[in-house]
Amino acid sequence: MDFTLTEEQLMIRQAARDFAQTELLPGVIERDDAQQFPAEQMKKMAELGFLGMMVDPKYGGSGLDTLSYVLTMEELSKVDASASVVVSVNNSLVCWGLETFGTEAQKEKYLTRLATGDCIGAFCLSEPEAGSDATSQKTTAIDKGDHYVLNGTKNWITNGNTAEIYLVIAQTDRELGHRGINALIVEKGMDGFEVGPKENKLGIRGSDTHSLIFNDVKVPKENRIGEDGFGFKFAMKTLSGGRIGIAAQALGIAAGAYELSLKYAGERKAFGTEIGNHQAIAFKLADMHTQIEAARHLVYKSAWDKDNGNNYDLSGAMAKLYASEVAMATTVEAVQIHGGNGFVKDYHVERLMRDAKITQIYEGTSEIQKIVISRSILRN
Ligand code: CAA
Ligand code: FAD
Repeated sequence: MDFTLTEEQLMIRQAARDFAQTELLPGVIERDDAQQFPAEQMKKMAELGFLGMMVDPKYGGSGLDTLSYVLTMEELSKVDASASVVVSVNNSLVCWGLETFGTEAQKEKYLTRLATGDCIGAFCLSEPEAGSDATSQKTTAIDKGDHYVLNGTKNWITNGNTAEIYLVIAQTDRELGHRGINALIVEKGMDGFEVGPKENKLGIRGSDTHSLIFNDVKVPKENRIGEDGFGFKFAMKTLSGGRIGIAAQALGIAAGAYELSLKYAGERKAFGTEIGNHQAIAFKLADMHTQIEAARHLVYKSAWDKDNGNNYDLSGAMAKLYASEVAMATTVEAVQIHGGNGFVKDYHVERLMRDAKITQIYEGTSEIQKIVISRSILRN
């Protein structure tokens, strides 16, 4: 086995690390407080090619592998998970879904804009009454010959207001169950498409989460992704890769909290010595380090599976399940290691703790990952 990163992967990781320190860190606390979307930072990330990392250069992407993308997600998430979720949704849900399953015309019209960061995208599956139970879609896309008429509400959509291109999953033929679901490309500004109010959230507060309302929105047939009825499989397959990105986000949040804790434990003194010299704190750091390394192996392995044409439904689900649990546990301990300062915003770890929670919920909750994992191991 070779665990060595290539020169190119090392370079990309360093570029992401530098960017996070110089461009994301300043103002991250204020953006979290004000629930401010990192708009300026997105423009710069677009210039660096971070918004279409795995997309073929012929569509304006960077043509990199999944591991490079994961390394970037990890570094950005150490500092600002509100920014990294935008990168994750645009890369692994929107761009990947379009590049893999879209028509040439759809790629020319939409993918190039998304990959270059000329605009960003959103992936719209969840509804007020269909989150984990994603097949019970209430939003309808009724076939009217040359177009669909879209009606319904999507909930908690990341990039809900800032996006310009939306991949919307909707039910066309209820009798066919999940085989009657379609995925449609919807543009901001189409008649009858409204963005609901912004959600006021516990974590990733700089990200832009909204409900979306569709009232008789006419979507041309050429905007359907894949064959009639392919929408649910499109969503599932796309989410399998998306989960690798969120696993990398969770890994980054955990690693960020650990790095801050290690530094603090070497500086803060109590009872005449650095707190890291007290075994209770040293052992916390040992557990954090071990769990993060284990999570890293699962996350990189799932990226490797994807890059090598292996099935990654199982490895991606395991990576997300484990890395998100590690992110939560690590950030709680990071606050503890920081004592009173951990409870104060200036030290970052309380924000990382709040941000960690979402990684156990979106792109499939931990319970849903266990369903995916158990079905996979019982089938084989
Ligand atoms: N790839 C391709 N097809 C798949 C698949 C996959 N990974 N997983 C399931 N399918 C197919 C199945 O084969 C089945 O098709 P057939 O009947 O033709 O064989 C069909 O999809 C239905 O599958 P199930 O019977 O397994 O469906 P289910 O109702 O039991 O649900 C589930 C399965 C895994 C629980 C699924 O509903 C699920 O993943 N739920 C969670 C939803 C989710 O992750 N939402 C995230 C929203 S996006 C987001 O959150 C973004 C963000 O925050 C930033
Ligand atoms: P529910 O499905 O109601 O689940 C509630 C609880 O019951 C959970 O603990 C769940 O694990 C558990 N549960 C449900 N079913 C089972 C079962 N069969 N077995 C065991 N336990 C079960 N969605 C999008 O489509 N696009 C986005 O961009 C997006 N971004 C998001 C951003 C944020 C900040 C948030 C909060 C959510 C986002 N979501 C997005 C939605 C997210 O994917 C859903 O919240 C998530 O899939 C869970 O669905 P739910 O909230 O309806 O919970």
